[in-house]
Amino acid sequence: MTTADMQPDQLEDAPRGEQFYQGLLDDEIRPVPVSLRATSRGFTGSGGIERSRYFDPEFHRREMEGVWSRVWQMACREEQIPNVGDSIVYEIGDWSLIVVRTAPDEIRAFHNSCLHRGTQLRTKAGNVAKGLRCPYHGMTWNVDGTLREIPCEWDFPQIDPAKFCLPEAKVGSWGGFVFVNVDPEAAPLEEYIEDLPWHFADSPLDERYLTAHIVRTVPCNWKVALEAFIEAYHTMAVHPQLLPTAADSMSEYDVYGPHVSRMITAVGVSSDHLENPLDDLEIVRAMLGSKDAEVTIEPGSGARRVLGDRVRASLKRRTGRDHSHLSDAETLDGVEYFLFPNFMPWAGYLTPFAYRFRPDRHDPDSCVMDIMVLEPLPEGEPRPPAAKTRHLGPDESWSDAPELGVFGRVFNQDGSNFGRIQRGLRASVRATTTLASYQESRIRHFHATLDDYLSRSATER
Ligand code: FES
Repeated sequence: MTTADMQPDQLEDAPRGEQFYQGLLDDEIRPVPVSLRATSRGFTGSGGIERSRYFDPEFHRREMEGVWSRVWQMACREEQIPNVGDSIVYEIGDWSLIVVRTAPDEIRAFHNSCLHRGTQLRTKAGNVAKGLRCPYHGMTWNVDGTLREIPCEWDFPQIDPAKFCLPEAKVGSWGGFVFVNVDPEAAPLEEYIEDLPWHFADSPLDERYLTAHIVRTVPCNWKVALEAFIEAYHTMAVHPQLLPTAADSMSEYDVYGPHVSRMITAVGVSSDHLENPLDDLEIVRAMLGSKDAEVTIEPGSGARRVLGDRVRASLKRRTGRDHSHLSDAETLDGVEYFLFPNFMPWAGYLTPFAYRFRPDRHDPDSCVMDIMVLEPLPEGEPRPPAAKTRHLGPDESWSDAPELGVFGRVFNQDGSNFGRIQRGLRASVRATTTLASYQESRIRHFHATLDDYLSRSATER
């Protein structure tokens, strides 16, 4: 299936998730951002996904060639390299880039390979303002990629020092994130990210700062991990503790252009999986984690309004900014966007995350998952320094990262299935998986775009 085959109007009536969520917005007493009204129903067919693409080394090779060598990828936050010379190393498959701030308002990405005999110039983040010096024979480049020094220069008569610069990848930025693309022919990032800036106009991510960055290697294909975060269908089985306060099965799913999709799960509403729905008081108490919490719900109000007020007050306390204009939806709901192939920034304030999923070099049974937490900037203060990146070891879980708070348990619940899914996909006797028509429409949309890239790459070969 390709994106051209999609028939978004095949569902005659709006799906129940869309109807439910848009109905909740109708009940708001504050204006809601127009982006929350931008529904784009997600009928992407009813087929499953070929299971071999989750473990076949040949499929992985095709992804490297046709996808990772062509797409824009989030490399870091701008505030992770705040000073001239600050750099990180971004790796994907065999690609390795040094992403470096070369001037106060300029970031560039150099291929991380010495022009002499190929040694990696950098293996980790750090400041390279004094130059990028190869550890093997000492050739050195300036922070802007121009050549600074060749030991025994007399022995390299063939080199024109003015032309012996480090090759660069493309760099772009949006929302405080730095993106890279190793394809010299790539269209600009602005085109690639489609309407994402418009969707985040009321929740600008460049006005946030990084309060946590947790990296963990997990035992499954990068698509297996990613797909666990673009549907809420699994909530009932994996996160039952969320059912009193999240309308999981009534989530709205929207698919937009080939690169962007969205899922919205209302919070402050109990799941219809519960035999006995909770009343407003019970929902608020469940959110507060106390059955006896003192709670007042005024006539005409409800759980979402009460909880929204709490979040608005908390934001005011934490940032000094007035957030009283925010709708309950913006304060509470899980509004998660997906940018192909592997980046998930959230709008809203209760779940201020961004995720990234990458293959673990060339192992199709392993991947690297990044979780970033992005809190709103305090008013009138300098931007706080970015949190240090924390790499969890093989014996650690997300609960070992207190920065994730109560969400550590939720991520652990997700992660507890990763190895089993990967193993089960290999063990299956069926050619394809089976997907829900609506709730898993983003998975199909994701694979349709993947297929488009792969077929384009095959045609060009
Ligand atoms: Fe880098 Fe020799 S390989 S200086």
